[in-house]
Amino acid sequence: MTIQHAADLLSSARRGLALTGAGVSAESGIPTFRGEGGLWTRYDPVKVASINYFMSDPAAYWKVSKERGGVALAAKPNPAHQALARLESEGHISAVATQNTDGLHQDSGSKRVIELHGSGRMVECLDCGHRESRAQVQKRLDDEMPPRCPACSGTFLKPTVILFGEPMPQVAVREAFDLAGQADVMLVVGSSLVVFPAAEVPLIAVRSGAAMIVINAEPTPVDRLAEVVIHGRAGEVLPEILRAMPISA
Ligand code: APR
Repeated sequence: MTIQHAADLLSSARRGLALTGAGVSAESGIPTFRGEGGLWTRYDPVKVASINYFMSDPAAYWKVSKERGGVALAAKPNPAHQALARLESEGHISAVATQNTDGLHQDSGSKRVIELHGSGRMVECLDCGHRESRAQVQKRLDDEMPPRCPACSGTFLKPTVILFGEPMPQVAVREAFDLAGQADVMLVVGSSLVVFPAAEVPLIAVRSGAAMIVINAEPTPVDRLAEVVIHGRAGEVLPEILRAMPISA
């Protein structure tokens, strides 16, 4: 019944909003951060993903980022990404607000993607502002650690992701909060919802009267506020929900 209930809610949604986390990309081969096999079970996030750490030792940062960055660059969208793109194209959700920096929502055709934690697809020099693609920098990492800026030879090339201790992208946060305040359906997919302000988005939506659907492999702190909770794999559950939705003309 929960699948049908979720399908009914999404079918009638006109101002739906989706919030996604690492769980939506897990089936694309990108490890999550928390939970089983999560990156933070191997590394201390404050150590390897904070701006202070990056500034104190860019090489140490890049040694960890080299592996994850390589996996993310090779990853392809999975059926969960594709389902969200279809929900948008059929007018059931107006945007995907994501904590992910892998760019897979855009690759799967989502048009309005709000990147709350920046993008891992670009790299910027903190000294001279030079920007280049992560793919280009990734190729140099076997020879250069940390990678050097080709414009100023500096060693502070940083992926355009938001590290712990960095200010959040205000425009993106504002946009997500505004859409949450207007949402009729809030769809949370693949997030432990422990990192703020991203985790505030579903709370704003519920407080504003939205019906919430949570799809996550494990329980989340907002399950009790949700109308539908499905503990499962997003790449299986979302297509099943789409199949249960009446075919739109
Ligand atoms: N389908 C659905 N959910 C899944 C799947 C899957 N296939 N695989 C794992 N999950 C769930 C896990 O159970 C976990 O609760 O996805 C959730 C991912 O949670 P986190 O790893 O904490 O990722 P996220 O919520 O995106 O983290 C938020 O924390 O470390 C920072 O900046 C980083 O953006 C990240 C933020």
